[in-house]
Amino acid sequence: MNCSRVLSPLRRSVLRRFLHGKPQIKINGKVYDEHPEYTNVSSTVLNLSDRSLHLKPAHPVGILRKQIEDKLNSTSNSFQLYNNFRPVVTVEENFDSLGFPQDHPGRSKSDTYYVNDKHLFRTHTSAHEVECFGNIQEFCPKVTSKTPTEKPGFLITADVYRRDEIDRTHYPVFHQMEGARVWRRSAEKCADGQEPLHIQKMRHDLAKLEKQLREESGNLVVQDDVSLEGNPKQSYMSDLEVDLCSQHLKRSIELLVAQVFNKKLESMGCKKSEAEFQVRWIKAYFPWTTPSWEIEVFWQGEWLELCGCGVVREQLLLNAGYDKDSTIGWAFGLGLDRIAMLLFEIPDIRLFWTQDERFHSQFREGQITKFKPYSKYPGTTRDVAFWLPQTQEASTLSPIHENDIMEIVREEAGDMVESVKLIDQFTHPKTNKKSFCYRINYQSMDRNLTNNEINEIQENVRRELVQKYNVSLR
Ligand code: DAH
Repeated sequence: MNCSRVLSPLRRSVLRRFLHGKPQIKINGKVYDEHPEYTNVSSTVLNLSDRSLHLKPAHPVGILRKQIEDKLNSTSNSFQLYNNFRPVVTVEENFDSLGFPQDHPGRSKSDTYYVNDKHLFRTHTSAHEVECFGNIQEFCPKVTSKTPTEKPGFLITADVYRRDEIDRTHYPVFHQMEGARVWRRSAEKCADGQEPLHIQKMRHDLAKLEKQLREESGNLVVQDDVSLEGNPKQSYMSDLEVDLCSQHLKRSIELLVAQVFNKKLESMGCKKSEAEFQVRWIKAYFPWTTPSWEIEVFWQGEWLELCGCGVVREQLLLNAGYDKDSTIGWAFGLGLDRIAMLLFEIPDIRLFWTQDERFHSQFREGQITKFKPYSKYPGTTRDVAFWLPQTQEASTLSPIHENDIMEIVREEAGDMVESVKLIDQFTHPKTNKKSFCYRINYQSMDRNLTNNEINEIQENVRRELVQKYNVSLR
């Protein structure tokens, strides 16, 4: 790589360079030393970082974000909004503070873009939970936050980064919204025999939500899962507290899901009263919440997973500086891109990132409209087949991960690649050598590609595979 090259002519906030012989990366004004074993962030990802699509008022992701924020704040304006967190966070913020075990697969270099051994491109918005919990002044007396808030909840929307496969629904950068809400516990019993104040408050908050749900979303059919079998509560909370907190969490998410999908039904010309739709709750596991769930929506014949959530583990609140036993609360994390694709009927996730006016001119602030393809450019497939080097076959842990192959193609083809699929794999019966064949579909969303152009990219992909992983091309 040319070390002094500015990676993007438009955005000088990202720069790779050498200082006193040490490779460094400058991202958003901060300089990070590269790490020989950890640094794996690609130029493609550096160039995509910080485009802030979620802040563009007339971009599908931005329209969806605003719609959810407005809805969740419409009941009681309890959520502080955070939309400007920078994408590089510490390993501590992204994993340790949330209780991820050391051997969690999400930590591996094949799944995550590392800047160095201590910094990475956040893999989820949960990376900011501890900081945001710490900003809730009333709840967190020990910490003097630089950005305190009076609100007992927050919503964080940001771009998140994962090494992954290449197809129409996967892109190395996508968007999530994190939500959370807390209640400060009061004494167990009130003198006058009434329930403790926080229980009264939770009942009040829940009743308001339920009323709003009934009024606005009578067409939502919910299949709940209220059993806590295999989904344990925390011992510091009473059964009643867990129940109220979980209900408040579930009703809040139902409200936002109903709002989003009802808007879609409306835009399709359906009447709410005639168009029922279903969601279901399913037990889940996340290291920093218990009990935990996922919500799925039944849409066009399929159950789609929308969002993970749960009752926040006390350890997380302690990490944020809260006093022991002082607080209870919930959190959720919602992926925005798939929902936006479905609402705006966008067939390929790459379109979100295009600079083409024919895409952007179609959307208006506050409106859900169906995307009209401006034209379909043909795709061309090329196969690349190779033997793994002998030394790797003996070891069970292959140093080439499928995501490494995806990364090479992304790096060479950019948004000209539509998908990459493993189409053949076998082990030679005599030599025991392993062979793989991947099919790359080259197709641009914005223009026709020439054969020469594709051949050149394909040659580069082949060369990089040999250079980086010492494979033998077939
Ligand atoms: N961060 C999780 C993910 O990316 C989603 C999530 C699950 C967020 C549960 C939460 C939560 O806050 O409580 O898969």
